[in-house]
Amino acid sequence: MSAAPRLLVMIHGANLDMLGERPVEHYGTITLRALERLVSDEAEDRGWQCLCLQTNHEGAYIEYVHDYRHGGALIVNPGAWTHYSYAIRDALELVTCPIAEVHLSKVDSREEWRRHSVISPVVSFTISGRGPTGYLEAVGRLIELAEGQAGEIGPRSA
Ligand code: DQA
Repeated sequence: MSAAPRLLVMIHGANLDMLGERPVEHYGTITLRALERLVSDEAEDRGWQCLCLQTNHEGAYIEYVHDYRHGGALIVNPGAWTHYSYAIRDALELVTCPIAEVHLSKVDSREEWRRHSVISPVVSFTISGRGPTGYLEAVGRLIELAEGQAGEIGPRSA
């Protein structure tokens, strides 16, 4: 059996290309480009490659998930789709590698509609409200999980 690919794919969704201009009290001042650099450096320090993707189109987001469903590990932050996109939830259900759901802001203490994530039941773990640090934590946990399950591709325990 071949070893799991050491490729971390990070997929950002709607409006996350606007980081740096979005409300500072929730998202801080970091730009998407800087966040992607931070995550890539962390992954590379651990011997992994990192591919960073972003789209404002839900169908394209789903296709990115399809494309990398058997990759090494995924970080997903679908933005507002998190709260209602059953189509993204169903795409994530097809993924055989560990998935981290990461949100910059503390979604469970914001508006009522943000407090529910339809994707949480199909990811390996969720981190929210820790800003860029949450992403770095996700990289470490994902790589541990992926290296732990290398060679035994199968369903995750959500
Ligand atoms: C977000 C939280 C979502 O509620 C919001 O729609 C976003 C960003 C976050 O990273 O905190 O666009 O996913």
